[in-house]
Amino acid sequence: MNINIRNEEPKDYRRVEEVAREAFWNLYFPGCHEHFVIHKMRVHEDFIRDLAFVIEVDDQIAGGIFYTHSKIVSEENKEYKTISFGPVFISPEFHRKGIGKKLISHSIEVAKKMGYLAILTLGYPYHYEPYGFLGGKKYNISMPDRKFYKGLLVLPLYDEALNKISGYAELSNVFNVTEEEVEEFDSSFPFKQKKYQESQDEYELAASLLDE
Ligand SMILES: CC(C)(COP(=O)(O)OP(=O)(O)OC[C@H]1O[C@@H](n2cnc3c(N)ncnc32)[C@H](O)[C@@H]1OP(=O)(O)O)[C@@H](O)C(=O)NCCC(=O)NCCS
Repeated sequence: MNINIRNEEPKDYRRVEEVAREAFWNLYFPGCHEHFVIHKMRVHEDFIRDLAFVIEVDDQIAGGIFYTHSKIVSEENKEYKTISFGPVFISPEFHRKGIGKKLISHSIEVAKKMGYLAILTLGYPYHYEPYGFLGGKKYNISMPDRKFYKGLLVLPLYDEALNKISGYAELSNVFNVTEEEVEEFDSSFPFKQKKYQESQDEYELAASLLDE
C-alpha cells in the first residue's frame, strides 16, 4: 500500500464527500449528515483550511479529517481558542489497518506546529485515547450544559496548556444542520437505503454517558 497524506484540494471535494457518505451511512442513525457538514464547513468562518487533510491509498482518496475553531468558555466568561476535528473517516474497506492513526497523528503534529492550545472532540473514547486524549472531566472541561460527558475528549497540544483553564466547550455552529438541507444535498448522490443498524444503539447510549 502506498500511503500519502496531503491537504484537501478543490478537485477532491466531491470524492471526499462520497467517501464520507460511505463511511458514515447508517452508522450513528439512519442515513448520515457528515458529507453535508464537510460541504458546508469548507465555506464556514470556523473552517481551518490548513488542517483539512485527505489520505490516499495507492493514489485513491481513502479518508479525510476536518478541523474547525472551537473554544473553552470559563465561568468568568473568558474565552480560550481551541480547535476541534470531525468529521474524521476512513473508507470502511481500510478500517483497522492503521490508516486512521496515520491521518489523525499527522493532523495533530501540524496543529501543534501551528501553535494551537488544545483539541476538543466528540466521539468514542476508544477511538481517541490512543493519541493521548482524555475525558474532559480530567481537565475540568464540560459541555455547555455544565455536565461532564465521557464523549468529550480533550488533548492539550503543549505541556501545561490547560493547567489554568477550565469551563465549557463550545463547538462551531457549522454542525447544526437541518434534516431538510441534508436531504436536499443527499439527493444529488446515488440513492442509498436508510435503515437501522446495531451501531446506532451503541452511539445513542455512548452520547449520553456521563463521566462521574
Ligand atoms: C474511526 C476511524 C476513522 C478509525 O480509522 P482506522 O483506520 O480504522 O483506525 P486505525 O486502524 O488507525 O486504528 C488506530 C487505533 O484506534 C483504535 N480503534 C480504531 N477503531 C476502533 C474500533 N472500531 N474499536 C476499538 N478501537 C478502535 C484502536 O486502538 C486502533 O489501534 P489497533 O488497531 O492497533 O487496536 C474509522 O473507524 C472510521 O472511519 N469510522 C467511521 C467514521 C467514524 O466513526 N468516525 C469517527 C467519528 S467522527
